[in-house]
Amino acid sequence: MAKTTLETSTKASENKLWGGRFAEDTDAFVEAFTASILFDQRLADQDIEGSVAHARMLHKVGILNDQELADIQEGLAAIKVQAAAGELEWSVALEDVHMNIEARLTDRIGIAGKKLHTGRSRNDQIATDIRLWLREQVDLIVSEITRLQQGLVELAEREAHTILPGFTHLQVAQPITFGHHMMAWYEMLERDYERLLDCRKRINIMPLGSAALAGTSYPIDRDFTAELLHFDRPSRNSLDGVSDRDFAIEFTSAASLIMMHLSRFSEELVLWTSAQFDFINLPDRFCTGSSIMPQKKNPDVPELVRGKSGRVYGHLFSLMTLMKSQPLAYNKDNQEDKEPLFDTVDTLLGCLRAYGDMMPHVETKPESMRRAAMQGFATATDLADYLVCKGMPFRDAHEVVGKAVAHGVQTGKDLSEMALEELQQFSGAITDDVFDVLTLEGSVAARNHVGGTAPEQVLLQVAAAKTVLVTR
Ligand code: ARG
Repeated sequence: MAKTTLETSTKASENKLWGGRFAEDTDAFVEAFTASILFDQRLADQDIEGSVAHARMLHKVGILNDQELADIQEGLAAIKVQAAAGELEWSVALEDVHMNIEARLTDRIGIAGKKLHTGRSRNDQIATDIRLWLREQVDLIVSEITRLQQGLVELAEREAHTILPGFTHLQVAQPITFGHHMMAWYEMLERDYERLLDCRKRINIMPLGSAALAGTSYPIDRDFTAELLHFDRPSRNSLDGVSDRDFAIEFTSAASLIMMHLSRFSEELVLWTSAQFDFINLPDRFCTGSSIMPQKKNPDVPELVRGKSGRVYGHLFSLMTLMKSQPLAYNKDNQEDKEPLFDTVDTLLGCLRAYGDMMPHVETKPESMRRAAMQGFATATDLADYLVCKGMPFRDAHEVVGKAVAHGVQTGKDLSEMALEELQQFSGAITDDVFDVLTLEGSVAARNHVGGTAPEQVLLQVAAAKTVLVTR
């Protein structure tokens, strides 16, 4: 943990980098209230990276000489090491990460440190820092998504032939394969992956050079700075550059969708691990017990992930509300963007990590799933389709099968458990080949087209997914 001095300053002009025009000290509470150092110290690396690039640009255009640039680079490198070791004294009196680092630099190298802020403002500095930080985080997040997708694909391949009931309205609908179900989750994550990469394009624009709001009178070279920082280009409008937080909102919205997906997976895992479903087992190391009920093994990881989706949605709304009434250009309101954004990233990375670790170890219970698929007349549609193949219009077939199901409900038998004569009471078109379609295997195997649940299709999807994932 980094050190933070909570002492307030004694004399404004001595301690504040902006103290020149002030006649009295900042009120102690106001100083703490307006400071962001307690949370924005997390941006120290990005702040330093941005400062080094800015200094190199100032040197290129002749504003800093060789010695000054060398001093700044050396000083910032030393501060970076100190910050990483948790040895930098962060001061609340110095308000934020930018002024803390600049003050420490000047303490170290003297006058050259005071030249670093030439042609920039904290407004373009913070906008640049967050973009640098978020770009890195997006790269981490997409690699976690990929890892989770790999786990799902593995599981889908292993369980391509495992049959469970598929549900609509949470009522048994038709038999499906477990692999097919896992590949549905894979598809959701694939869209999440694409959304993040698309959002990254808009993150990767450089506001630095916008200065406070109007640009600067120095002959800066923004293309050069952008290149040094690996941004795609400098922002085109300085007012927009310092005040735009769309990229953070867009990211949080993509994060909310990912959390929504993870929450849906969670809900299914919670149901499936219950004694009533009993479709899967989660290894003990991903579960916890109860302090009072000795028999309990609770699916805490999925439950927590489901619960955490709410806080990410909350952050999305915080950020949208934060922006909605702001006039151009920068306003201090924007300081409130950091905590929601940081927590969104931390929450999302934590949830993805937990799922990435857990999913490859999910154990299925095929017997139990099979039993469940045999209840609820999961192959009723197959019988209707069979009658259609024999020449009956679909609506009439639907009616016939409905009657057969009603008979099954009365007698406690699945369609596949009825004798041929029993089935024939409902339609003379039924012959003994009907049992090929009434079995669970026959039902899933028949859905053998792109996107269908047949094991053959699942394995094709698995193979296609693998070729996509190896390139990442
Ligand atoms: N801590 C501020 C933020 O997070 C940095 C920019 C402050 N700019 C200013 N003019 N007060 O937005």
